[in-house]
Amino acid sequence: MPEIFSTAPEDKTLAPDTLHTESRVLIIDDESMICESLETLLRLEGFVVASAADGEQGLHKLDEGVYDLVLLDLALPGQSGLEILHSIRERQPQLPVIMITAYGTVQNVVDAIRAGANNFTQKPWDNEKLLADIRSAIGRYRTEQENIHLKRALKQRYSFENIVGKSEAMLSVLDLVGQVAPSRSTVMIQGESGTGKELIAKAVHSHSPRRDKPFVPVNTGAIPSDLLESTLFGHVKGAFTSANATKKGLFEVAHTGTLFLDEIGTMSLDMQAKMLRVLQDRRFMQVGGTHEIQVDVRIIAATNVDLRQAVRDGRFRDDLFYRLNVITVDLPSLRNRREDIPLLAMHFLKRYCEENGLPLRVITQDALRILVDYDWPGNVRELENIIERCVVLSTGPTIGVELLPGHITGQSYSASMLEHTPNASLFDILEEVERRIITDRLERCNWNQTEAAEHFHIPLSTLNQKIKRLNIEIKKKNKE
Ligand SMILES: Nc1ncnc2c1ncn2[C@@H]1O[C@H](COP(=O)(O)OP(=O)(O)OP(=O)(O)O)[C@@H](O)[C@H]1O
Ligand SMILES: [Mg+2]
Repeated sequence: MPEIFSTAPEDKTLAPDTLHTESRVLIIDDESMICESLETLLRLEGFVVASAADGEQGLHKLDEGVYDLVLLDLALPGQSGLEILHSIRERQPQLPVIMITAYGTVQNVVDAIRAGANNFTQKPWDNEKLLADIRSAIGRYRTEQENIHLKRALKQRYSFENIVGKSEAMLSVLDLVGQVAPSRSTVMIQGESGTGKELIAKAVHSHSPRRDKPFVPVNTGAIPSDLLESTLFGHVKGAFTSANATKKGLFEVAHTGTLFLDEIGTMSLDMQAKMLRVLQDRRFMQVGGTHEIQVDVRIIAATNVDLRQAVRDGRFRDDLFYRLNVITVDLPSLRNRREDIPLLAMHFLKRYCEENGLPLRVITQDALRILVDYDWPGNVRELENIIERCVVLSTGPTIGVELLPGHITGQSYSASMLEHTPNASLFDILEEVERRIITDRLERCNWNQTEAAEHFHIPLSTLNQKIKRLNIEIKKKNKE
């Protein structure tokens, strides 16, 4: 019998790319006549077959190769078929096993099924029935295996908890994060405000060997530059008037961990020069200090300004740029991955319903369409805020268009107008948007014009002029 199969020893579940097309069957039976006739039958039907004369040999073959099904004799010399069945189950719990025996008593059947056999066939077998049983068991097994692998692949791709996204752009970001996380390389994350730069920085840290060490974020843009130096490098007692005691800087706090330098693009040129030094050899001096401190820190930087442009404009040192720009993660803006909007909306909906102790709300299709069409200048953070607001304001089970703020529905009116009346002038579009926003607000204020005017921060007289000009029909107030 030729050795037909070889595969990686540990993972006996088939990876999708190694899924073979032909079905592979292992026969374990001590009677060579039986093995031969089964082999012939199965080969003629296109199966790839291997046989073993006893349980031990069978288990060995199972360990060495990949099979889709085992035909197992119950009465084997040495270890019984049932014992072998147990050993197979320990190795591969899902692998289909069909028991074959000449002594098919009820008790045998019960024992074998209890021990995890998928089916039972008596000698002499009916070829057609046996083939049908084999095919259906293998079919089920393969579907299960494919599902396991799909789930596993998805889990690997989406294993960054809390990071939601299925767009190609986001998936390639996650792939890159997965690749760079284990190393010590400096990572630079670029993206518009609210795209998730800090979230990604945390994901890099938490998937690195430093995950149990500190992750220290510092917003270099928000700290005045004279304070930034002592914040990052620390200072010795008496270094400046208010330095009453020696204080560690964030580089030391982050020792063995990760330092997240946020908004690096706004750092002063003077500070950039000092950063260059520490990024080169991870050595620095505290403010007022006399000896160098060495740290082991991984740097992740983030920026929402185009650093290349800043270099061209002379606002950012090119040598520092190249130090930081070892691996760049470009975070796509939300309007460039609209397919993620419904997923993110659901994610935040669930979060804020839970946080507010409310039953899960449903976003209506109309509202969702508007969310998908909107341009999201504030990206994911803006979407998160809108969903939180909708959840808090919602009084029933659904979140509809009426709960969305005017600036979001307004843009969508203009988009839909452009779509439906492509020849409309800008003036017409603006008028229509104004009409809808005012009507929307009046409806929400129960047609109370004074309240609506206050909301828009305009005098009541101006609102009334607009209502007249735009032909807005004032409805009767509902009883409150
Ligand atoms: N892909 C995502 N999945 C789930 N939540 C996200 C995703 N991206 C961003 N968020 C959430 O959006 C909010 C903003 O993200 P984050 O603070 O990381 O953005 P940022 O790019 O650092 O913003 P800024 O430039 O304003 O500092 C956070 O609450 C974050 O959890
Ligand atoms: Mg941020």
